[in-house]
Amino acid sequence: MTKAITPKIIIAVDGYSSSGKSSMAKALARTIGYRYIDSGAMYRAVTLYGMRHGLVADGKVDEEALVAALPEMKIDFKVAYGKQRTLLNGEDVEDEIRSMEVSNNVSPVSTIPAVRHALVEMQQAFGEEKGIVMDGRDIGTTVFPNAEMKVFVNASAETRAHRRFLELQGKGVETTYEDVLKNVVERDRIDSTRAESPLRQAEDAVCLDNSEMTISQQDEWLLNLYKSIVGEE
Ligand code: DC
Repeated sequence: MTKAITPKIIIAVDGYSSSGKSSMAKALARTIGYRYIDSGAMYRAVTLYGMRHGLVADGKVDEEALVAALPEMKIDFKVAYGKQRTLLNGEDVEDEIRSMEVSNNVSPVSTIPAVRHALVEMQQAFGEEKGIVMDGRDIGTTVFPNAEMKVFVNASAETRAHRRFLELQGKGVETTYEDVLKNVVERDRIDSTRAESPLRQAEDAVCLDNSEMTISQQDEWLLNLYKSIVGEE
């Protein structure tokens, strides 16, 4: 008997910053052969573009000019040496968009409705053929409200700040735990109180608090959820 082909679905992974959702989403995409899209990287790329052109600085944004420049920004992704890289107009900006300077400016950029509309359209285009894992804040609520699988990931602010601090240290970025915690708390506040697409759990999302989980435990949890949804053993 031939084995039935598993239909491709859309998987939305939302959650707070540094909750580990990107690592989980990436690992699942790799295991099941799906494309992974980091929607936060797209907001970061727009922020970097604005910073480079003098339109974004110190948490202040020249909204009109940034929105006018949106058609000039082509954001894409490639995989190099097994790692996902973000491209802004063909340039690999993966490392630069992770800097503290971009992190400190990205929230105000992501509150601008016209920026959100443009990026949501691009994100929906990435999902046209399904077979995609996308992570962010509003993927299950706004970008793909009909996604077949929705997960909402959370962990305490302290746990998330600690993880982010270790990650930045590993990359040689000079910062303190206190600064990282401040950034995490401030981004939580802006992400969940903004008028346009605030961070919130979709009603039909499955919630995971991974504060006490190891990476392999959370990866296994996600893979099992996927299998139960597509009906694989
Ligand atoms: O996941 P991240 O920390 O790289 O996201 C960067 C910023 O982008 C974060 O402050 C929230 C915002 N964002 C958003 O508003 N909507 C998304 N779908 C993804 C990220």
